[in-house]
Amino acid sequence: MEFYVTAGPGTEEVLRDELCELGFSQVRLNRGGIPFFGEPRDGWRACLQTRIGQRVMQVLGRFPAEKLSDLYEGARALPWENFITPRQTIAAAAYAHESCGENPNFVALKLKDAIVDKLREVFGSRPDVSRDDPDVRCFVYWGRGKVTVYLDLSGEPLFKRGYRVTGGEAPLKETLAAAMLRLAGWDRKMPLLDPMCGSGTLLIEAALWAANIAPGIWRSRFGFERWGNFTPAEAREMAALRGQMRYEASNQHPAITGCDLDESALEASKANAKSAGVRLSFRQIPLRELQGDASRRFLITNPPYGVRLEAEDRLYQELASTVLRLHGWRCAILAGSPQCIKGIKLPPVAAFPLKNGNIDCQLTVYEVS
Ligand SMILES: C[S@@+](CC[C@H](N)C(=O)[O-])C[C@H]1O[C@@H](n2cnc3c(N)ncnc32)[C@H](O)[C@@H]1O
Repeated sequence: MEFYVTAGPGTEEVLRDELCELGFSQVRLNRGGIPFFGEPRDGWRACLQTRIGQRVMQVLGRFPAEKLSDLYEGARALPWENFITPRQTIAAAAYAHESCGENPNFVALKLKDAIVDKLREVFGSRPDVSRDDPDVRCFVYWGRGKVTVYLDLSGEPLFKRGYRVTGGEAPLKETLAAAMLRLAGWDRKMPLLDPMCGSGTLLIEAALWAANIAPGIWRSRFGFERWGNFTPAEAREMAALRGQMRYEASNQHPAITGCDLDESALEASKANAKSAGVRLSFRQIPLRELQGDASRRFLITNPPYGVRLEAEDRLYQELASTVLRLHGWRCAILAGSPQCIKGIKLPPVAAFPLKNGNIDCQLTVYEVS
């Protein structure tokens, strides 16, 4: 069975590394997402274990298509009846390369038509469509005369871990935070600090990774657990897999500290950390009061961007002078504009273009001498 784990822009290589470390087979680097091969249970395990992947999908079929009617015929021929009953709800989404000359919404509509027509033919009735909470999510990729149709195992996107109880100001997606930690070269042992921690996403993702706590452990149900072919015996197997993940978690991680000047942000961080079951330390101090100490530490943060101009200027100057006095530290900053790191007069050891929502960002990493 072929699976495809979707990746945020710029996170493909670290997702590939993660899936290799998790022991999946035939993992290959690819733009936009990482394919691997395995048994159905490997797909379930990927949902539970990937920290960076946004969705885990299973390839249902591939065929050539030059026009929408080819796509409809090809999709209708696929064995939907093995996964979906007429009592279930479905949602269809599409990506169409510009060379196809079709609006992705029309392509998604064609996929939906193909599925419901096939199920009506087999069962005599059809499933309803649910945009918000479908039982089965289907996806079609149409690029340069070739179509791939997928079933989405994840259901809700995987950044929705289930431990977050409160958001705060502009929280990072959990999948992006996990990718940043790997890209920045954190070794899971060095004490870690986020001086502008907001709701604590980077801190919690760091603790979960270091303690080997599966990020999907809070999710009561993934998409595939609602498919028509998911049997009670498989549900018991999935429960055993969840149990195994809990057993393998260590609860050991290095010291992880969050600071913020905003009390409500720290309250959010504490509540989220408590819900995730990780023990972190918090201090309410402004960035400018942060002092380096003798031991080497790892700083990772995403400062606010798009705030009032003069406030932003002052904050970025404080950020630069803070980083420059943290001798011996490794510092990684997700900058939403070049202004953010302009004052850090150090050659970066690495820089990665990323997207935070639809904002182009750069994760810049420094070794402060
Ligand atoms: C973009 S948010 C961080 C979001 C966080 N990564 C998360 O996932 O929730 C930026 C945070 O910086 C904090 N902040 C702004 N200026 C600060 C300063 N001078 N010192 C410390 N924290 C500051 C804000 O209170 C806010 O919580």
